[in-house]
Amino acid sequence: MIACHCFSLRSDEIRTEVRLGAVTLEVIAQRCGATTDCGGCANAVLDVVEDELERANAASSVR
Ligand code: FES
Repeated sequence: MIACHCFSLRSDEIRTEVRLGAVTLEVIAQRCGATTDCGGCANAVLDVVEDELERANAASSVR
């Protein structure tokens, strides 16, 4: 699924950035450009970031 149409960024690419330590929209923007053109994807990108962080927290609590 495309998260940012301006830069053709898929949600799995955003998830990869989160796993590599980009946990704010500002850092995501710096690393891949998401949200820096029209900005219309900000909520969608934030949803992906939050979902990936929740997944990481759930995985770490199981261990
Ligand atoms: S859709 Fe992401 S900057 Fe436009």
